[in-house]
Amino acid sequence: MAFQRIGILSIGEMGYHWARLLANHGIEVLTCLKDRSEVTCKRAENAGIRSVPSLERLVSESDLIVSVVVPFAAGRVASKVAKALIKVGKKDFFYLDANAISPMTVRGIEENLSRSQANFIDGCIIGSATKLNKGTVIYVSGPGAEQMLALEQFGFSVRVLGPDIGQASAFKIVYAGLTKGLQGLFVELLIGARKFGLLGEILKQYDESFPGLPGKVGQSIAALPVHAGRRAEEMVELSQTFRHYGLKAVMAPATRKVLKSIASLNVGKASEVGAREGGLLETVELFFQQGLLREKGKGENNKANLT
Ligand SMILES: NC(=O)c1ccc[n+]([C@@H]2O[C@H](COP(=O)([O-])OP(=O)(O)OC[C@H]3O[C@@H](n4cnc5c(N)ncnc54)[C@H](OP(=O)(O)O)[C@@H]3O)[C@@H](O)[C@H]2O)c1
Repeated sequence: MAFQRIGILSIGEMGYHWARLLANHGIEVLTCLKDRSEVTCKRAENAGIRSVPSLERLVSESDLIVSVVVPFAAGRVASKVAKALIKVGKKDFFYLDANAISPMTVRGIEENLSRSQANFIDGCIIGSATKLNKGTVIYVSGPGAEQMLALEQFGFSVRVLGPDIGQASAFKIVYAGLTKGLQGLFVELLIGARKFGLLGEILKQYDESFPGLPGKVGQSIAALPVHAGRRAEEMVELSQTFRHYGLKAVMAPATRKVLKSIASLNVGKASEVGAREGGLLETVELFFQQGLLREKGKGENNKANLT
């Protein structure tokens, strides 16, 4: 399949970088900004994306729609696209859901889209939006998933996981559990280290014991002021997946708690050009100053009390 025009819903950090990469390879990128926030509209403008007024127009004019929203919106977005496809009567159309959602959510999306006869591909993205053509991988599964290999000519790295819908989502779930779990654990321990006045020393020791790990996890912690809410939703999807398969997730609910606490600080400002700013130390300091993980009425002990 040679994709000529690709619709992206929506232009968050990931959508922005998809759009830029596709546009750099001569692909026309479209979106629909109805009901979207100011920052999303601004990102679309900055990426030079053509916005159409309705989803009907979006599906009529695109060969493929890529859904990169927040996990809790993935089902709703797909359902609206399915309705638009039925209304327009379009066939021979691809829909790639690349969100971090459970295999159950993805099967619900498949069912919804099957009424519209769209070719549905389950997908997930491993790696940062800012490194889409530098190491980030798009994993796909489902009948026809190999059609997504066509994206490789635009600089994406695509790997087919298998023929079943749900494989790519399950893969992302267990991957996301690791990255977000490390972020939650690091934030908790570094807030402690900051309280004890040992931040620099413990980071040095972590790096000696686990070379490169603090640097890697640190980059994703710096993005938490903006992305903690979305990442907390991913942990809900993980817990639900485990429950569905008769397993009990213990780490994911704890990680979700930390991420939700960060999101509720409301200290992030999303970039209008999909950029990431800040470093690990300043982010930990911000969280510390905002009282993250502080117990009400307790914790008056300071560094001096430790010695
Ligand atoms: N960012 C990364 O590096 C990264 C890496 C791997 C995977 N991913 C995956 O990519 C997806 C998007 O992540 P992101 O970082 O781009 O998130 P983001 O920056 O928070 O952007 C989310 C986008 O979804 C839109 N949205 C929210 N609710 C919507 C709805 N009901 N209908 C339509 N659009 C809606 C938001 O619009 P408003 O501004 O109007 O709310 C925003 O444009 C996620 O599933 C994530 O797992 C991201």
